[in-house]
Amino acid sequence: MTNLSSTIVEPATGVIGQKLAGRVALVTGGTRGIGAAICRSLASQGASVAAGYSGNKERAALFVKEFERDFDGPGRVTTHQGNVSHPEDCRRVVQEVLDEHGRIDILVNNAGITMDKMAMKMSIEDWNTVLAVNLSGSFYMAQPTLEHMVERGTGRIIFVSSVIGETGNIGQANYAASKAGMLGLTKTLAKEAAFILARSGRLEENGVGITVNTVTPGFVATEMLENVPEKVLDKIKSTIPVGRLCHPDEIARVVHFLAADASAYITGQVWGVNGGLDM
Ligand code: CAA
Repeated sequence: MTNLSSTIVEPATGVIGQKLAGRVALVTGGTRGIGAAICRSLASQGASVAAGYSGNKERAALFVKEFERDFDGPGRVTTHQGNVSHPEDCRRVVQEVLDEHGRIDILVNNAGITMDKMAMKMSIEDWNTVLAVNLSGSFYMAQPTLEHMVERGTGRIIFVSSVIGETGNIGQANYAASKAGMLGLTKTLAKEAAFILARSGRLEENGVGITVNTVTPGFVATEMLENVPEKVLDKIKSTIPVGRLCHPDEIARVVHFLAADASAYITGQVWGVNGGLDM
């Protein structure tokens, strides 16, 4: 039998490339799980990182400590507290990052929550809260960031959606709807960004431009899976063609690929990283 562990992407430690040197990335939900892996992956290509978090200060402090240990000491990372479902928090965080880093080249809308229940038992509050964080929060972050990117004429926005937004899932009406909504938001922002640059004569032949894309992870081994009953998780695992859960770093490497200047011709796209779950 193939040893799967020999093919697994390891967490990024240390700068190993310069594809994102001089770039500044803002990652929501960036201090743990997939978001932390994304921050580290971007940093491994030379980017400075601003990581958003909502409530867990201790986790944010630990993230910074580990990041500074692994990536050139202090100065490359900042953290920013805010609730993405509050538009005023989003504008403040974007301004904070601009004040502290001078620019935002890459926005990764990663912050997300689940409140799983069968649709018939789902409260209106559970519906609204998940939509507010996952979908509206992504829009509230993208709007002020896009204003800044359009001013400069370059940028990358990457949404972390989910395979559930494409396939649906028992117990996840709110989550699936929010993640599916991100796909339409991605394509619209991608079209608008290209349109605005073209209209102002700034769509250059070999330019970096502004691109907007989505990654749709499958079931990733993070704290989010802790709420799924074991019997249900076993059932889910048995449906994944590659036979295992995804590692956060396997999502992060696709994000850093899309964030690179050389990915300028990829926009409005949905990148599935799900072990074949949607085949
Ligand atoms: N897929 C397949 N079967 C499922 C299922 C799922 N997602 N969710 C529930 N079921 C099945 C259960 O196995 C069970 O079947 P049996 O009666 O044959 O045993 C039946 O539905 C009822 O389930 P419960 O006994 O758990 O019922 P409940 O009312 O106590 O809870 C629930 C319902 C809240 C939906 C719970 O089952 C649950 O949390 N399911 C998991 C939902 C899920 O997959 N969440 C993913 C979280 S990770 C994530 O969202 C990240 C991402 O992007 C992928």
